[in-house]
Amino acid sequence: MIKKRLVVLISGNGSNLQAIIDACANQILNAEVVAVIANKADAYGLLRAKNAGIPAIVHPFHKGGNRTAYDHSLAELVLQYKPDFVLLAGWMRILSQAFLCQFPGKVINIHPALPGKFPGVHAIDRAYAAYQQGLIKKTGVMVHFVPDEGVDNGPLICQEAVEINSKDTNETLEERIHQVEHRLFIDALQIVCNQT
Ligand code: GRF
Repeated sequence: MIKKRLVVLISGNGSNLQAIIDACANQILNAEVVAVIANKADAYGLLRAKNAGIPAIVHPFHKGGNRTAYDHSLAELVLQYKPDFVLLAGWMRILSQAFLCQFPGKVINIHPALPGKFPGVHAIDRAYAAYQQGLIKKTGVMVHFVPDEGVDNGPLICQEAVEINSKDTNETLEERIHQVEHRLFIDALQIVCNQT
């Protein structure tokens, strides 16, 4: 079967990107990362891409710039790589329809919380604070399609709950969530890559 072409958008560390690169290399995924694009020049994930021999491109949004124009240009860039899927792996910008309309059913995001919970930034910190206030006992991870501008919301591919316990600190919870992310993103990609 022909390998699926993945373009991965990142803004930072890229530990999820690394999990995807490794899963492709180990043939756990019938896919290849054909490009990594960051909106920040100092995103560590760019180095991960270069180390794996994958094109690593910086496409910065300049302060005061036009969001629609940026999303158009980003779409043009991504289209050059003919992706089967566009993965948001710690991509810290909300994409508008100017981008999304070019990739219907192809954009996938990972969020470190359960569906409908803690959308947006600092989801793990906010879940930990809610646990400390006695409001929740668990949080989790979700992987979902991105059909529109709804933040961390869209048709679910996979989810997994993560219990929070009294010995947890913010850091231990964060570490466990990231471990789940690295596994769940691959589970989700196996599902979508084998479906089409
Ligand atoms: C992850 O927690 C992801 O769910 C969120 O941003 C973080 C990115 O981490 N959207 P990394 O850059 O993959 O290490």
